Amino acid sequence: MKQRTPVFLNIVAVLIVMNVLYYMFVQSSAYLKSPYFWGTVVISIVLVFIHNAIGDLIENQQFEKLSDEEKKLYLEQKKIPFYKRAWDSAFKKQAVAEEKDLLIDHGFDGIMELDNQLPKWWLGMFYFGFAYLIIYIVAFSFTPFAHPDKEYEEEHKQEMASIAEWIKNTPPPTLETAKYSADNIADGKQIFEENCVKCHMDGGKGGIGPNLTDKYWINHPEKTLFKSVFEIVENGVPGTAMPAWGKDGMLNGFDIQKVAAYVYHINQEQAPITPEQGGAPAQGEEVTWEK
Ligand code: HEC
Repeated sequence: MKQRTPVFLNIVAVLIVMNVLYYMFVQSSAYLKSPYFWGTVVISIVLVFIHNAIGDLIENQQFEKLSDEEKKLYLEQKKIPFYKRAWDSAFKKQAVAEEKDLLIDHGFDGIMELDNQLPKWWLGMFYFGFAYLIIYIVAFSFTPFAHPDKEYEEEHKQEMASIAEWIKNTPPPTLETAKYSADNIADGKQIFEENCVKCHMDGGKGGIGPNLTDKYWINHPEKTLFKSVFEIVENGVPGTAMPAWGKDGMLNGFDIQKVAAYVYHINQEQAPITPEQGGAPAQGEEVTWEK
């Protein structure tokens, strides 16, 4: 008659399986706080005990059927701790003579089943897999190899530091050094929407501040449009609502270079927004810009 697995091992196995299943579906350990998890844990443990009690009943019944000698042998074997039995069954060589003792106590229609040892190569693979699993879980939990997010954060930090370094070492553009670049239009648009839209309105069509899409300008301090806008945004227009964004430290040279590119873009590369389309009427004089 075969010896049974102790109930506590079944409980441990059930707990591991439940944790794995919950973790698979929840993808975080938040389920540990859920009453559903603990409810299913309690129910499962009760079921394991019921299963064990039924096992006890069957064991008692079959024990009665054994001969006195078999009873003695069974009781003797039962005294061997479970782990020792498991160890022996895995590593001890099986004697041919033992075969008849290996008959499993269930059969059907005269067909009986033997509890022969598993092939050593198979067991070897199993134990290798098991050891690998433990090493993997430990490595997964305590080393960074499977956590690209941490690596990413690390690299991101370095990248940001190198950008900060670059900005520190690269003087911001000034009226003399600033250059128009189409690459700056998108960023410039964002700066415009954050700072300028409240006066110059959507797309620079004009409101409190003049229409920036037409050919008419009140201020044209420089010969080219881009430099002119840079100058106005840098120094503002004293005595009017137009702030000195650069001089008063609200925007740095990089930002002004970007927003000036955006203003250049809506003025030179897009059709003007006319009063009929909701734009503000022309102010100032028509200016022909140098390239
Ligand atoms: C508080 C309102 C206000 C804000 C915000 C504002 N402006 Fe102005 N802006 C004005 C006014 C008013 C004028 C007209 C000044 C004048 O009468 O000479 C002006 C003029 C200008 C001009 C020259 C237009 C011309 O015809 O001479 C440019 C270019 C300009 N602003 C760009 C910007 C940009 C870029 C921003 C955002 C960084 C900005 N403004 C934010 C009110 C504002």
